[in-house]
Amino acid sequence: MPRKRGLPIIGNLHQMNLGRPELTFTEWGKELGDVFSVEIPGDTALVLNSFDAIHEALVTKGICFGGRPQENKFRLEFISDGFKDIFFDNAGARWKILRKTAHRQVKMFDAGSKQIEQLNLNVIKELAKEFRSHDGVSFNPRETIYHTIMNLTTMLLTNKMFKQTDEEFKLFTEIERLSVSSIAASGKGVELDLLPWLRFFGNSTYKKLLRAKYCRDVLWKMIKGEILEDIRSDDKEIDSLVHALFRLHQSQQEGNSPGTFPLEEANLRATFADMIVGATTTTSHSFYAFLNIISQHRDIQEKLQEEVDRVIGSDRYVSVNDRTTMPYTQAAVLELLRSTSVVPMAIPHVTLEKTSVSGYPIPPGVITLPNLWAMHHAQDFWGDPHAFRPERFLDDAGDLVSASHENRRHLMPFGAGTRVCLGENLAIGRLFLLIATVAQLFVVE
Ligand code: HEM
Repeated sequence: MPRKRGLPIIGNLHQMNLGRPELTFTEWGKELGDVFSVEIPGDTALVLNSFDAIHEALVTKGICFGGRPQENKFRLEFISDGFKDIFFDNAGARWKILRKTAHRQVKMFDAGSKQIEQLNLNVIKELAKEFRSHDGVSFNPRETIYHTIMNLTTMLLTNKMFKQTDEEFKLFTEIERLSVSSIAASGKGVELDLLPWLRFFGNSTYKKLLRAKYCRDVLWKMIKGEILEDIRSDDKEIDSLVHALFRLHQSQQEGNSPGTFPLEEANLRATFADMIVGATTTTSHSFYAFLNIISQHRDIQEKLQEEVDRVIGSDRYVSVNDRTTMPYTQAAVLELLRSTSVVPMAIPHVTLEKTSVSGYPIPPGVITLPNLWAMHHAQDFWGDPHAFRPERFLDDAGDLVSASHENRRHLMPFGAGTRVCLGENLAIGRLFLLIATVAQLFVVE
């Protein structure tokens, strides 16, 4: 297999754009092909740059590629209390039950029940109110977007919304920010994976990890009491992802869930922390990028506004059920996911058994990086990958192309197969609501 030659110990690290490694790997692919290996400190990693290779690994051979890197991964091990969560556990019995429970709850949340629709709407109305309060004077919407999405996350996780000044809310945001900035696969902090003893010498990433875990534990204590009280009161109206995890845990302890992998409270807590990060960063980055993009595309805004005026008008707010009659807005969501590719190399996978990709034999234990960004920006497939064109996902009649259309098949912003993102539908629904609401109420300049 082609490989990028590097230096002893640091491998190819000195040749990489550590802030955007996906761009470096896309560039190297031009010389090395769609499948090649690189040296990252302490490991060799397999890079997959094309649709064919990524589809083969994640979908066709999803079980073989279903692991997560655990060797020399001090930071991930530390933050997840020893890989006891969904993100970083291997695809085994414990991961399966955690994922299934979380997924069931996320699906209920995105299914658009009246109660949930109302909650989403309340949060989105707050966003609109905040945007309006600037009276047309330019402002940076980053914080408002972040708080909107974080409140959607707190509702999913705990069935509660918080004010920005609430202690709980501050802890949610601190956990998210510290975790994201300290666990990037490459970049600052990678030295801790190689040399974990650096933590005894004032390493700044270690301090962040410690603080993230401290905040998580404080927040967990704060919410746990109330959630257990809700469960005792047996009020079926009060439900959330953490309620569901605790219900399962209690049922296991009472011997009522035979055959399910026995969970510890640490599994619930680590999964809670995963979801804070997984559900917030991605969606808020995507929506922030969207406002930036459409501020430079008045034509796209006009098409979005025309559709929302025609289908919804101005007498009511947008609903997720409007999706079916708003193909242009749906296409804009898909194009946003393609063009930004906010999780550009998925979460690293690891081979769990002997396998192969594009004909190259791959032993077990190989870190695999699916370069989703490269696939979403392949010149030969997309033609003009750097242009923002929702029309890619529309047919001649202006309808959304079907899921089996080549362009939809080549779109995998949520990964694919065994480890596909479990928030995919929820995220698409949220982005639809946010984008349509902006089109209904504002012109972005
Ligand atoms: C625009 C929004 C989002 C994008 C682009 C995104 C993307 C991704 C990607 C690429 C992966 C890795 C898949 C792989 O390893 O092959 C992932 C995993 C995951 N995502 Fe998302 N995600 C988004 C929103 C969400 C939301 C809203 C949630 C929760 C409600 C969520 C929860 C998760 C979880 C738990 C995993 C780990 C799955 C596993 O390891 O089995 N994500 N996501």
